[in-house]
Amino acid sequence: MSCETASRNATPPTPAIRPGAESLVARDIAAQIGAGQWHWPGGGKGSAPALGIDPRIPALVPGFDAPFFQAGLAGYSDGAMRIIARRHGCPFCVTEALLDRTLLAGGRGFDKADLGELRDNVPGGAEDNPLACQIMGSEPAEMAASAIKAIEQRTRTDKAYRMMAYRDGPPAATALRLPGGEQLGRFDPTEGLEEAGADTDNWSCSVEEAGDADTSIDPDPTSSTSSLRLSVSSSLSFQVLDVNLACPVKKIEKKSRGGHWLTDPRGAIAILEAVREAVPAHIPCAVKLRRSFDDTPEMVDNFHAIFEACYKIGYAWTTVHARTVEQKYVGPSRWDFLRDLRAKNPDKLILGSGDVWTVDDIFLMIAYAGMTGVSVARGCIGNPWIFRQAREMMAGKPPSQPTIPEQRAVLAEHFRLSLACTRRFRQPEQATAMMMRKFAIRFAAHHPKSDEVRRKFISVSSTAQWRAVLDEHYADAVG
Ligand SMILES: Cc1cc2nc3c(=O)[nH]c(=O)nc-3n(C[C@H](O)[C@H](O)[C@H](O)COP(=O)(O)O)c2cc1C
Repeated sequence: MSCETASRNATPPTPAIRPGAESLVARDIAAQIGAGQWHWPGGGKGSAPALGIDPRIPALVPGFDAPFFQAGLAGYSDGAMRIIARRHGCPFCVTEALLDRTLLAGGRGFDKADLGELRDNVPGGAEDNPLACQIMGSEPAEMAASAIKAIEQRTRTDKAYRMMAYRDGPPAATALRLPGGEQLGRFDPTEGLEEAGADTDNWSCSVEEAGDADTSIDPDPTSSTSSLRLSVSSSLSFQVLDVNLACPVKKIEKKSRGGHWLTDPRGAIAILEAVREAVPAHIPCAVKLRRSFDDTPEMVDNFHAIFEACYKIGYAWTTVHARTVEQKYVGPSRWDFLRDLRAKNPDKLILGSGDVWTVDDIFLMIAYAGMTGVSVARGCIGNPWIFRQAREMMAGKPPSQPTIPEQRAVLAEHFRLSLACTRRFRQPEQATAMMMRKFAIRFAAHHPKSDEVRRKFISVSSTAQWRAVLDEHYADAVG
């Protein structure tokens, strides 16, 4: 996984620091938003027809029609999780952070090194829209080239993208590592450049003939009746390019990336400029930030310098996670910081992240901190119903809890979609079962016998065993 480890999912919820929020009533805020009566900072009061979101957001990203979205969640937010979220009302999703070098090292078919991750993050068919691709890296030119590759979905040759990244001469071959340090293989930027008489001064690129290959699959090989098909077509792309300046995983080989850029505003800004310049103007770029690297005044100043630069360079919005990089995922996020940030920046599109555990938190963050929108992260793992509840509250209705039949249907469908994502693995069923265990721990929380159900899910390693748990504990459902 690119950014985080699964263990962080276990971090218990902490209430955010939000003094004075007690007087806010989530239900009322949601209903006002849904009726188009909310005053969006800098965005005007609704519009005709009434919108439940700052009108600047759907103008940038058609379809992003509600003020919340599914965050990038490394190890979770693959096509399967995204599609389940969307079917429950989530209007927009972000992929997990992809390392620029992993993208550039993709080679033919993205099939080298640890590229299961890339497969998980390609747009998952017509239903998986609109979608942001999030990238993370250390060198401006590599980030720019990988941003283009992501947006273009490899309409040029791999060689062409590497030539963009290394026009001033390729660096020496290095180890290709995950942020935690695990080595996936070697990354040799010169590989393939000698083919077809490559000229590193020549930026013209040929179109890859296989670029439009349709990779539709039947995600449930065990079911003869499954009509579900997940189509991954290169004609679909990302609608937004998101730069990660937030990931807390430690530096690799002394190079900054993710949140470590918050210690180096000049370096961060060089990356932001290179990416914005490279990505076609009609594709909005956005940035994910932490509120600072740590709580020293110098680092807080760094945050503000980078934050200001984002908008000057032309980034559409920032998503600010209201914890420091040093905090990782532990301890409270500071919604009061987000509120101050909004007060100083009344017109900017700012999305908030941190301690959004329940549907009420979505609307409380909007009202308390004046956020344009809210990133739902750990609060939606095993809980896609948070999006349905948010839509219900915006329609002035009470949020509904998932019934047992609804839970069963989602558990079965998420497993089927997850199999689609692991289809090229040597043992797709086992890989899916491993993946789904992480979700099931959270899904089980909705069941009246949550401890027992959780224990059962943890030992599952096949489709048949998954179904057996559903039959035993979610039996009063059809499906
Ligand atoms: C397991 C895990 C993986 C994450 N992966 C990413 C990621 O790839 N990209 C990203 O921008 N944020 C990532 N985050 C951060 C979340 O998007 C979010 O900002 C953070 O969890 C704070 O929100 P929460 O307290 O409501 O969970 C990750 C968080 C967790 C727990």
